[in-house]
Amino acid sequence: MNPFNVYPLYNVTPTQAKDCIVTDEKGIEYLDLYGGHGVISIGHGHPHYVKKLKAQLDAIGFYSNAVQNPLQIELSEKLGKLSGCTDYSLFLCNSGAEANENALKLASFYNQKKRVVAFDNSFHGRTSVAVSVTDNPKINAPINSTNPKTFLPLNQIDLVAKELDKGDVCAVIIEGIQGVGGLDEGTTAFFQDLEQLCNKYNVVLIVDEIQSGYGRSGKFFAYQYHNIKPDIISVAKGMANGFPIGGILISPKFKASYGMLGTTFGGNHLACAAGIAVLETLEKEHLIHNVNEISDYFIREAKKIPQIKKIKGRGLMLGVEFDFEIAEIRKKLIYDKHIFTGGAMHKKLLRILPPLTVKKEHIDAFFKGLKEVLN
Ligand SMILES: Cc1ncc(COP(=O)(O)O)c(C=O)c1O
Repeated sequence: MNPFNVYPLYNVTPTQAKDCIVTDEKGIEYLDLYGGHGVISIGHGHPHYVKKLKAQLDAIGFYSNAVQNPLQIELSEKLGKLSGCTDYSLFLCNSGAEANENALKLASFYNQKKRVVAFDNSFHGRTSVAVSVTDNPKINAPINSTNPKTFLPLNQIDLVAKELDKGDVCAVIIEGIQGVGGLDEGTTAFFQDLEQLCNKYNVVLIVDEIQSGYGRSGKFFAYQYHNIKPDIISVAKGMANGFPIGGILISPKFKASYGMLGTTFGGNHLACAAGIAVLETLEKEHLIHNVNEISDYFIREAKKIPQIKKIKGRGLMLGVEFDFEIAEIRKKLIYDKHIFTGGAMHKKLLRILPPLTVKKEHIDAFFKGLKEVLN
């Protein structure tokens, strides 16, 4: 049997990784400014994370959600404290797409409506309803077209008001900062008006922080730049530094009932231990402070390169835009300079999503490599 061939692969085989460096089978070291697509938050193989996971595995790795699991309570409390969302509840699952499935399902249970408003260039995952509200027809199969949805441009609040006024909208789903789409985001006025409109029409406001959350934007959640309080916040990626996990933070207006949501693997002991280790490390090492410091440094350095036409994003969810497509630059960065970077649907945007532990010397190495491949 062979793997189902759905990924265009770079010809690199990592066998080890430490902090921001990934080493391949030949011993070649790569600077990881991609973090496996924004997943590595506290650095590869962080000693506290490794120790905690090993100890958990020795104790108990898994049991289902039919029994008490104090680790879920510990994770919820720590996440509430660090994010400031102390009055929310946490439902745990296994991936970003699954988090959004549960968010949308909960919204629909809540107001008994079906239509979802999402935004142009959005990405919310590849399953069922999550992919249906993802603005990419190529990854939507006919079976994904059953639930009603409407895509609108970002920052045009009148268009949102018009849709919500029709009375059949269940939820509005919006990324804190668009990831795959290319780092566009709502303005503060737009987020605030969105919140107000959702309250007015009893529509659930879901902020997808799967990529922008967990400190990556320079605040714990990117929506916190806008002084709003979403009804549901979906999280995954950076949450457990590579251990599969996802979750939704649920505001107090939703009441839980048995069986309403559920999962076999979600919130298992190993996943919780990984999630707790990440939060402990974020706090202890002041990683959000580091995000802001390195972000400023990156932006200052990027401004010195004339070929860069625009700098997008926040924190360590950044992109540099050129007036040509960057696929070749990315290849050269990997194969010639041994630096991993990210792309976007927007083909002229080179993205970086490094571990939040990244240092100035790594940014210097990136710009040195970039200048060499550009010239
Ligand atoms: C904003 C956003 N939402 C949802 C997802 C889906 O997450 P997953 O691949 O874990 O299902 C992604 C993944 O890239 C994402 O960037």
